[in-house]
Amino acid sequence: MTTGWDKFQELIKEQMRKIYSDVYIEHAMDPRNIGRMEDADCFVSVLGTCGDNIELWLKVDKNVITDASFTTNGCSATIACGSLMTELAKLKTLGEALTITAKKLIEELGGLPQDHVHCAGLASLTLKKAIVEYMNSTHNHGKKTNKERAVSKKPFRVNELEAE
Ligand code: FES
Repeated sequence: MTTGWDKFQELIKEQMRKIYSDVYIEHAMDPRNIGRMEDADCFVSVLGTCGDNIELWLKVDKNVITDASFTTNGCSATIACGSLMTELAKLKTLGEALTITAKKLIEELGGLPQDHVHCAGLASLTLKKAIVEYMNSTHNHGKKTNKERAVSKKPFRVNELEAE
């Protein structure tokens, strides 16, 4: 049975299709891997130049990202990018996941409006930051527990990293 909510959602999708691809709409309106993760091996909070942020949790086993989840207070492009980024990162080695660039996210989403290109940059840099933090923490193995590694309270600013 089609409800009023279904009709409303279809109306929104119809409007979005004028600008965005079906892949984008799918990730923006039904994001994957959204929410906090208990027992993560790594957590980062990255602040974009626009003032929005992405929080990212990773579970890593033998150099492979076994799970990823995110939250954001950003726009629908950031939700779509975060959703796709976490999907692409899962089951990749840390090295493979480092190759998930903003360009790749934009291509897979079928393009982004120019004023939302930075949202893909925020998503890819958040992933890179998480991987780098995880790698640094494992070099200090024995000094930090997984729980300690998972807590990184200070938000990381995107412009502290080199944009692609
Ligand atoms: Fe701020 Fe998209 S992340 S506008």
